[in-house]
Amino acid sequence: MYSDLNEFNRKPEPFSRYTTDMLWTDPWIAQQMLKVHLDESTDLASRRSQTIDDIVGWFDRKIGLSGKNVCDLGCGPGLYARRMATRGARVIGVDFSAVSLDYARSEAAAHNLDIEYRKADYLIDDLPDEQDVISLIWCDFCTLPPEKRRTLLERVKGMLHPGGTFVFDVSTTQQFEKRREIMTYGRRPMGDFWSPDDHFGFQTTFLYDQDKIALDRYLIVAPERRFEIFNWMQYFDLEMISSEVREAGLVVEEVLDVMTGDPWTPEAGELAVVSRV
Ligand SMILES: C[S@@+](CC[C@H](N)C(=O)[O-])C[C@H]1O[C@@H](n2cnc3c(N)ncnc32)[C@H](O)[C@@H]1O
Repeated sequence: MYSDLNEFNRKPEPFSRYTTDMLWTDPWIAQQMLKVHLDESTDLASRRSQTIDDIVGWFDRKIGLSGKNVCDLGCGPGLYARRMATRGARVIGVDFSAVSLDYARSEAAAHNLDIEYRKADYLIDDLPDEQDVISLIWCDFCTLPPEKRRTLLERVKGMLHPGGTFVFDVSTTQQFEKRREIMTYGRRPMGDFWSPDDHFGFQTTFLYDQDKIALDRYLIVAPERRFEIFNWMQYFDLEMISSEVREAGLVVEEVLDVMTGDPWTPEAGELAVVSRV
């Protein structure tokens, strides 16, 4: 017990373990995640509807969606894909959560929208090419280790039509300053989220001040099962995100406040990068 807890509270090297897929593809947790996506009282997995309406509104004003081939990477339950299709885009949504894609497909059918949803890992699997617009929304980029971020940017570059646009958002270092190291444990600390069975959950948050990275490390202990989740978050300043984009061969065209589409100011928690090939 002591050595287990000691190991759990050891601060690992940044991004040394990657468990993101489990959060979205474990059949039970993915179902709970879908509920969080659709919960209008929290922005945890997806932003609230009104905010998504506003964001898709400025995408349309800035980039022009009608008649464009748009690929939404990490589309989740299709909340952006559906709105972009409603504005006349030909949308392909890519995600590896079967649960979210089932919901997205049923919503598209219910709204009579012709959206293609593909179950794929955007880091590994074949992706559509000749796209006019690619989106990656809700700071997914920040959860990736540096080499996977580079892989993703290079893949995006290969998917874009000449002159095509890649728009994505990241959390900023201002948000990092609000993070605190914590250590908690409890019985069913998030209700049924981690497991329908009785369980104990431990959480330790580590901060890497120099690198502006946070890790929320979870240990879930149930009678028949025990697992760990590593949730990494890289926070970016303008220079860091711009240079990663440039190094992958894309041109940073604009840096915007993701909520409004207005030019970004350091007070805004997240920034949106509009880049082109
Ligand atoms: C924070 S959610 C955002 C979902 C959606 N963009 C939104 O804002 O409503 C991240 C999504 O990315 C998906 N995802 C994460 N890594 C992925 C990968 N490597 N390949 C495909 N989908 C991935 C997850 O399944 C999840 O649906």
